[in-house]
Amino acid sequence: KRKIIMDCDPGHDDAIAIILAAARPELEILGITTVSGNAEIEKTTINALKICELVSLTDVMVSKGASEPLVRVRETAPGIHGDSGLDGPVLPEPSRSWSGEHGADTIVRLVRESKERVTILPTGPLTNVALALAKAPEIKESIEEIVLMGGGTFGNWTPTAEFNIWADPEAAKKVFDSGIPLAVMGLDITHQAMATREVIDQVNQIDNRVAKIVGELLEFFAQTNQEMFGMEGGPVHDVLTVAYCVAPELFKMKEVNIAVETKGEFTAGTTAVDLLGVTGREKNAKFGLKLDVEGFWKLMYEALEQY
Ligand code: BDR
Ligand code: CA
Repeated sequence: KRKIIMDCDPGHDDAIAIILAAARPELEILGITTVSGNAEIEKTTINALKICELVSLTDVMVSKGASEPLVRVRETAPGIHGDSGLDGPVLPEPSRSWSGEHGADTIVRLVRESKERVTILPTGPLTNVALALAKAPEIKESIEEIVLMGGGTFGNWTPTAEFNIWADPEAAKKVFDSGIPLAVMGLDITHQAMATREVIDQVNQIDNRVAKIVGELLEFFAQTNQEMFGMEGGPVHDVLTVAYCVAPELFKMKEVNIAVETKGEFTAGTTAVDLLGVTGREKNAKFGLKLDVEGFWKLMYEALEQY
């Protein structure tokens, strides 16, 4: 089994990423760490606990991580995810609390303790991962890959910056410059995974509690994406990180150099994705170009049918 740590800010798409991961036999979730992003840290942490409750992941530890970006002022995304960070469905109340350990320390400890190399799936701002690397740089050797959602060649929070990178560009820079193998699910590929009316109807046809809740999450998320961006549905960005770990054949990736802009007057938080190799800088990431959309949703429906 591939050992994974999910570092997230649930978040509708983060929540669905956890639900997909929990259903897949190829993955072992070592821990879930939370970060401030879509909502404040207490909220994203409680949301993670609720999702664990829903899919019976109650033996997987949830650690509360960074409440603030490394240097910037925190901003959240209630326009997309609602005030709770996970508005829409009624979710089960958690039967336990988060662990007493900081999320960044949990990442360090779990990587150190694991006999096999660990894959980290960050689906929020990269604050916890940057902190973990700063505290224990030697864990780099034991990280198989970081498969993250963030960035792209266009923006959704500024004209050029995607939310997760924009929320903590200094942390993102640390991760992109770390030398760890990276697979990057940016907006270019995540916008291909659009939960349209048709997709939501398919999900609603699956007759169990988890699918019903996913249907409600997608309904809310499609609505806010429509209101904010005029989209026909909601792109389930974060779910691609999990799908890539279990079915990489669904993804067309390209090896490129990606640099994170931390200073730009208009472009802070932008990922400069060198698709044509014009900089000559060393390639540091596999960048998602094209998704097998049908295969992706099939994977998702099959996972939901298992509940
Ligand atoms: C990213 O920002 C958040 O709103 C989503 O959960 C996703 O991780 C998309 O830009
Ligand atoms: Ca997220």
